[in-house]
Parts: sequence; structure tokens; C-alpha cells
Amino acid sequence: MSKPIWIKHAAQLATLASEGKGPRSKEAMSELGLIEDGSMWIEEGMIKAVGTTNEFEERYADRVNEAEVVDATDHLVTPGLVDPHTHVVYGGSREREFEMRLEGASYMDIMNAGGGIHATTRMTREALEEELIEQTTLRLDSFLAHGVTTVEGKSGYGMNLETELKQLRVMKKLQEQHAIDLVPTFMGAHAVPAEYKGREDEFVDQLINEMLPVVAEEKLAEFNDVFCEKGVFTPEQTERILDAGKRFGLIPKIHADEIESYGGAELAAKIGSISAEHLLKASDAGIKAMAKAGTIACLLPATALYLREEAAAGRKMIDEGVAVAISTDCNPGSSPTTSMPLVMNLACISMRLTPAEALTAATYNAACAIKREEKVGSLEVGKQADIVLWNVKNYQELQYLFGVNHVKAVWKKGVKVV
Ligand code: NIG
Ligand code: FE
Repeated sequence: MSKPIWIKHAAQLATLASEGKGPRSKEAMSELGLIEDGSMWIEEGMIKAVGTTNEFEERYADRVNEAEVVDATDHLVTPGLVDPHTHVVYGGSREREFEMRLEGASYMDIMNAGGGIHATTRMTREALEEELIEQTTLRLDSFLAHGVTTVEGKSGYGMNLETELKQLRVMKKLQEQHAIDLVPTFMGAHAVPAEYKGREDEFVDQLINEMLPVVAEEKLAEFNDVFCEKGVFTPEQTERILDAGKRFGLIPKIHADEIESYGGAELAAKIGSISAEHLLKASDAGIKAMAKAGTIACLLPATALYLREEAAAGRKMIDEGVAVAISTDCNPGSSPTTSMPLVMNLACISMRLTPAEALTAATYNAACAIKREEKVGSLEVGKQADIVLWNVKNYQELQYLFGVNHVKAVWKKGVKVV
């Protein structure tokens, strides 16, 4: 049995205590449940108590000697960050495309010429499972080093049964091997593979009839995601795929309105998608529909920056009552980063979220977007001890000193991993 851990004298504990209320919107996004001179007691990988150091001195007076004490004086403590949208399992890399885009080519031009998602698909199809595990492990290590303790991961660089399964099995193995909690999403509909060009509906049929049943049978995914975009999948095709997934118990997500306004936000609201992602070009009606339906907006400001596009209307979405989560979108094309702290900074700078809203979006609301809010995303009794100790004094400073990794220590299920 491991020793209990007592984290004491935290300058600020941002607990995000939520009492299971579900995704936070409007003013609730600013409620961080702050405790000054805070303390936490961790045992068996779980949070046993949260309060002030004063309270703890009395409560744990007779157990001080058995605990490992961590002095958090002058440090901010938060829940482990949650990244609810990544494409973390992939082969190869695409630095030449980065150069091409700076020379003037657009993201969609490159993809339509057989690069982009198609290039990564070729490299992922060729990669051995061990190679994918090796590459992905390095990225997960980097996530942990940036304070991220739970990561959603999508397939979608296979677009045939064999490679989609390979990606999902890699995630399953890494879930066993790596400290990070990985949450798997099937995204066979990430693009129409080159061999199906001009026969898009046939590919949709194949995905529904041949891929989804196997993914479900092997219990390799919890969510089902589609790139609903002009020139990729239409809203009608998206709906068919997500409906079929629902019949297998997969929860819908949609890459919506990223490059062009295409009715993706409206569709997400209509079909009860748990979240809609990107939303750079979401319409006003789409935003209102999401607020009404309780669809979480998963916003990816690093992707917007990397594509040199204007970021999504995060401020407006919150004001309209949409619950906002944020994510890296970690992928080899539009956002090759693992830095959730940078994403929080960008949420403030380019989408005008307040520092408190950005922290909520990267913790509790992010957990809600992948149905993990009962286990992670806040520091509450009975939750996993996924905790970050930061080299800053308060949550404002975390967002203010930008582009720097302020992580001092990370515990995953009560084990110090950084
Ligand atoms: O979320 N938009 C579609 N998919 C990814 C990019 C994938 C890639 O370029 O490899 C995204 O941005
Ligand atoms: Fe994505």
C-alpha cells in the first residue's frame, strides 16, 4: 500500500468543484471553487479530502507521520488538464506541408492534391503497430509534461478496416501501458480515401456496414466522429454515419464548420451530438441551436492559429449560453502540438475567454465532452487524484505568462509522473 499524500499550503487550489452538475455554461464557467492556503489528502489514487490547511491540521493531526507531505506554498494547484479532441495516433510527419502553406498553398488545396490527411493515411497504413506505439508514447509523454492527464484520441488515418482497427488497438494497448487515460473515438469518416474518389456514398456504405460493426463488436471506441465539411462529408452523409454509430452505442461528435459554414453546428444540435468541434465558421443560428440543445462547443484555437485563420467565436458562444471546452486537436497537419497550457493562453488571447473560463474549458467542461466528468476534471472527494502543481501563484498568472510550460509536478491516479 502506498503512502497517503498531503498537498498542503497551496497558494490557490482551483477545485472546479461541480457536484456532478454537468457541462458549465455562462457564469458557471467562471466558478473555479477556489480555496486559499488549500490542502488535499490523497489515498489509493483517489482524492479523500479537499479543504483549507487550517482544517487539515486538526483533521489529520494523528496521521501526519504516515503521509508524504508536499509543500505547495506559493503554487497554484489544479485538476489534471483534459484534452477532449486529438488525432494523437499517426505515422510519419508533414513538415514540408507547413512550408508549402507558408508559401501560399491552402490546407484544402494540399489535401485535394493527395497530401494532408491522405498523406498521413498512407504513412499510417504503412507503419507497424509497434512503430505507432513508439511514436504515440512520445506524444503522450509530452502531454503529461504539459499537465494533461486524460486524452481523447481518434482513429481516421486508416479509412480502411485494417488500419482503423490498428489505430484503435494501439490506443487500447497504450491505455494499458501509459499513465495517461486515453478515450477512443472512431473517425473512419475523416476523409474519403483516394481509392473511393467519386464514389463517396459507397465509402459511407462500407463504413456503416463493414467498419462500424467490427469496431463496436471489439469495443474499441466510445465515440463516433465525422469531418462534416464541403468537399469531405455532407451533412446528410454525416447524419447517416452518426445514426448508424448510435445503433452500436457510439456517441456522436462532429468536426463542424471548420473551413466553411456548412450547417455542422445546426446538425450537431439536431442529432444530440455530445459536442461539435472547431466551429470557426459556425452560423449564429447554429450557435443558438447548440445553446438550446446543450451541445458542448469544443474549440481548437491552436488549429486556427496554425492555419492562420480567425479563431472561433468563443466569447460569443459563452455569452449565448454554449458550454465551451478547448483542446489541442493534436495532429500532424493543422495542429502539431501537445500543449494544453498554450491552448488555454490562446483561448484567452484569440477567443477572449477569461482566465477562469479557459481553465474550466480545459478541465471540467473538457471532461464533460468525453463523458469523464464523474472521474476527472475537478478536485472533489471520490475522484481520481489527477493533479497538477504549477510554477505560478494563481490561475490568472497561468494564462498571463503565456507560451511557457509552468508545470512543476503532475500526479496521475495519485502517482507522481512528472
Ligand atoms: O481536426 N479537420 C480535420 N481533421 C484534423 C486535421 C487532420 C490532419 O490535417 O491530419 C483537424 O484539424
Ligand atoms: Fe480534429
